[in-house]
Amino acid sequence: MKKLYRNMRLFTAVDNGRALAGAEQGKISELKNASMLVSNGVVERVGAEDEVMKGICGRDISFEKDFGGACVIPGFVDPHTHICFAKRREDEFGMRLAGLPYLEILARGGGILSSVNAVKETDEEELFRRSERTVLAALSKGTTTIEIKSGYGLDTEAELKMLRVIERISKETPLTVVPTFMGAHAVPPEYKSDPDKFVDEILIKEMLPKVKAQGIARFCDVFCEEGVFSVEQSRRLLKAAAAMGFELKIHADEVNDLGGAGLAAELHTTSAEHLLAASEEHLKAMGEAGTIAVLLPATAYSLKKPYANGRNIVDWNVPVAIATDCNPGSCFCESMPFVFGLAVMKMNMTVDEALTASTLNAAYAIGLADKVGSLQPGKQADFLVLDGETPVALAYHAGSTSVMEVYKLGEKVA
Ligand code: NIG
Ligand code: FE
Repeated sequence: MKKLYRNMRLFTAVDNGRALAGAEQGKISELKNASMLVSNGVVERVGAEDEVMKGICGRDISFEKDFGGACVIPGFVDPHTHICFAKRREDEFGMRLAGLPYLEILARGGGILSSVNAVKETDEEELFRRSERTVLAALSKGTTTIEIKSGYGLDTEAELKMLRVIERISKETPLTVVPTFMGAHAVPPEYKSDPDKFVDEILIKEMLPKVKAQGIARFCDVFCEEGVFSVEQSRRLLKAAAAMGFELKIHADEVNDLGGAGLAAELHTTSAEHLLAASEEHLKAMGEAGTIAVLLPATAYSLKKPYANGRNIVDWNVPVAIATDCNPGSCFCESMPFVFGLAVMKMNMTVDEALTASTLNAAYAIGLADKVGSLQPGKQADFLVLDGETPVALAYHAGSTSVMEVYKLGEKVA
C-alpha cells in the first residue's frame, strides 16, 4: 500500500549524481501544490498531483495527508558529529569564556582527554542512553540522517565500545546513522613523548584491523592540527585506512593552517571538515579533487573564532556541506536549524546554497546520496514541514526552530 502526501510547497536540491558546486549549489527546485507518493518509506513519485496519480487507483492508497500548502524540505543530514559522549564539559566552556584557548585545555590533559576518561568510566548501556538522548534532540530539530564519530576511547577496547554504541543508535532510533572511526582524535597522555608510536603501532597496526574486523565503521577520520596529529602522521594513517577499505575524512585546519586541506585534496578524501584557517590554494585544490568542504559554523560561534568563508568557498567551486559538529567540548549544538542560520548570516551563503549544504551535499559527504538528501524517486521519504512559506524561515526566525514536523521513511517521528 502507498501513502500520498498532498498540497505541499516543496523545496529540494536536485541530485545529478554528484555533490553540487559553484552556481549549481544554489539551484533549488520549488514545486507549488506538490504531491508525493511514498511506497515502503521510499519516494515513488513527486510532482503535480495529476501526474503523481496517473494510473494509480485510490484503493492502492492506504494513507493520505493534506499539508494545506505548507513548506516541505528534505530531512537534514548532519555529516559531522561527536554526539556519542558520556559527559558534558560546561566547566571547560567556562574556562574558555574566561580566555583559556581550546588547544591549551587539551594540552593540559583536559578537553577531548576528559571526554576520553568519561567514556572509559561509563558502562556501555549508560553511554548509549546518554547519547541517544542527544540524538533524539537532533531528530526533533529535523536531523533524519547523522554521522557519528568515535574518538573518545583512544584505546582499542574503548573505541570498539563507542562504535557498538553508535551501531545501537542506528538500530534503535529512527535516524539513519553513518559510523566513523576516529581513534586519531587526540594523542593519549601515555604516548605524549612518542606520538609516532601511537600512530604507527597502535592506530595503524592494532586499531584499524580490529575496527575493520568489527565491521561497523565506514569512514576513518583524523584530527590534523598543531599539537595533535601532523600532516605526515595524518597521511600515513589515512593511506593505511584507505588500503583497508575505509572511506576518508579529515579534521583540517580548524585552528591553524597546517595544510590539512591540501592533504585532503592530495588523497581525494570524501570530505575535509572545519577549514576555518585553510588557505585559498588548498581549498581550490579540494574543489578540483571533488573533496567536499564540511563547514561547522556553530563551532566557530562556540570557539569565538572567525567563521569559515562559505561565500568564497562556494564561489571557488568547492561543494559545501554544513554540519553541527555536536560534541561536549568545542561545540555543544545538535541543531541544524541553528547551523543553517549561521551559514546564511555569518558565512554569507544564500538560503538555497545552505539548503543544498544541509541536505544533498551533506549526504554526499557521508556517502549516502543514493538514499537521502533530496526528495526524488528512489530516495527515502525523509522530510520536514516548516513553519514559514519558504526555507528562508530557517534563517529568518532566529533562535527558534521552524521545523514543525519530522518524517522519516514516510512516518511522522517528531
Ligand atoms: O570537531 N576538533 C576536534 N574534535 C572536535 C572537538 C571534540 C571535543 O572538543 O570534544 C571538533 O571540534
Ligand atoms: Fe569534529
